[in-house]
Amino acid sequence: MIPARLTLDPHFAVGPVNRRLFGSFVEHLGRCVYDGIYEPGHPAADEHGFRTDVIDLVRELGVSAIRYPGGNFVSGYRWEDGVGPRDERPTRLDLAWHSRETNEIGLDEFAVWLGKVGSEMMYAVNLGTRGVQEALDVLEYANLRSGTTLSDQRFANGAAEPHDIRIWCLGNEMDGPWQLGHGTARAYGELASKTARAMRQIDPDLELVVCGSSSAHMPTFGTWEREVLEETYDDIDFISCHAYYEPIDGDYASFLASAVDMDGFIDSVVATADHVKAVRGSDKTINISFDEWNVWYQSRYNDVDRITAVDDWPIAPRLLEDSYSVVDAVVFGNLLISLIRHADRVTAASLAQLVNVIAPIMTEPGGPAWRQTTFFPFAAASRLARGVTLELKLECPTYETPRYGDVPIVDAVATCDEEEGRTAVFLVNRSLDEEVTIEVDVRLLGDVDLGDVESLHDDDMHAANTLERRDRVRPKANTTATLHDGIVAVTLPPVSWTTLTLARRAG
Ligand code: AHR
Repeated sequence: MIPARLTLDPHFAVGPVNRRLFGSFVEHLGRCVYDGIYEPGHPAADEHGFRTDVIDLVRELGVSAIRYPGGNFVSGYRWEDGVGPRDERPTRLDLAWHSRETNEIGLDEFAVWLGKVGSEMMYAVNLGTRGVQEALDVLEYANLRSGTTLSDQRFANGAAEPHDIRIWCLGNEMDGPWQLGHGTARAYGELASKTARAMRQIDPDLELVVCGSSSAHMPTFGTWEREVLEETYDDIDFISCHAYYEPIDGDYASFLASAVDMDGFIDSVVATADHVKAVRGSDKTINISFDEWNVWYQSRYNDVDRITAVDDWPIAPRLLEDSYSVVDAVVFGNLLISLIRHADRVTAASLAQLVNVIAPIMTEPGGPAWRQTTFFPFAAASRLARGVTLELKLECPTYETPRYGDVPIVDAVATCDEEEGRTAVFLVNRSLDEEVTIEVDVRLLGDVDLGDVESLHDDDMHAANTLERRDRVRPKANTTATLHDGIVAVTLPPVSWTTLTLARRAG
């Protein structure tokens, strides 16, 4: 049994937890849209063809803003293909995923779906094969009330109210050689700056996200951010980060420490943004939109799933349908801890993605929808992480990893909602084989009662929820937790993710 100690002090806050941290991502990719959120003919489909069982799960997950329509997809997308009478919409090649796009779902339908799940739209414009004019057009179509051809077209297409999209991504992963229209940081930065300035001539209050690196391991990482920000600093609000993790060659010790990499990624981008700020003598701060993050078995996609045959362009193929295990969910929960820990600078984030494609929600055509293991940490964090993130003092032993050297066995973050008198603590035990007993000193919170304590763990860390066994894995009450004299003691099983709540005592 490994000992650990954590001290909470409500007087020291990192920053407010922005609801946009709990965003997600719906791309026209595989079965995310078609046979995912949309399946007319399914017994649970509503009048628009949207699956109500999926809507219920998305609501339960607690997703704030949803990024749409891509992803790599957006860099070849013509937004106008997806609006207007359905029978007139063209079918196009989607070069990013070697698929066919029928355009049955587009901006207006997606806005209807967002209304049903209660989430905000985060819209990405195509800066791969397109540019300033098309970004202006889609903004005018989406947000202008009426009185122009494009806004009146939206009205005529059945969307009487403007979509009022507040947050926009200026392209996607433009640092990646795989991206349609990929070029240098300077070339992209110039285009993003022109696009941002033009969009602000329609609406100066838009929130704009410029593309950072598609991974901290890109050869251009750091330089890309600096050069793009040098071109765009005054015109944008956020720079994006993207990161995916998977176990490499069975190295679970390093995999379990993936959040160490995410922490370093965030700190480096913050440092780069602040360097550009300092050089410019600017008083404006650029924050991070971590708008793609997850566990993704990318090697499986590259080795098995990728479609390459020249004449094979399927509609909504099964792509990136990773089945997530307990260890994946623990790593995933730890990535959430990293995002919440950086609440002062990471003010938006999107779990990539939402349904079927590296997703917390899976569906079977004509069949059920179910929660993957990763559903649970996301839903719990979205529900419980309120108020401000607290600065923590965590003492625990370290363990050795091949990729990251010595890393702490435990990771933790805590949030405190002073008004509601509620504190939430999120804990990970990264040890592959040992329990940790952690003592959480909560004396500075005053008189509190211990609320629910739940752990996601299984004796088989590879256990997963599948079509056949949809409820195999769920978080369970952690009955080891006690509170005596301001100290919560709780035992964390190996490879586990735990939530612990405290409520101020009434009176
Ligand atoms: O989320 C899957 C893909 O990962 C996205 O389309 C792309 O932006 C990233 O490389």
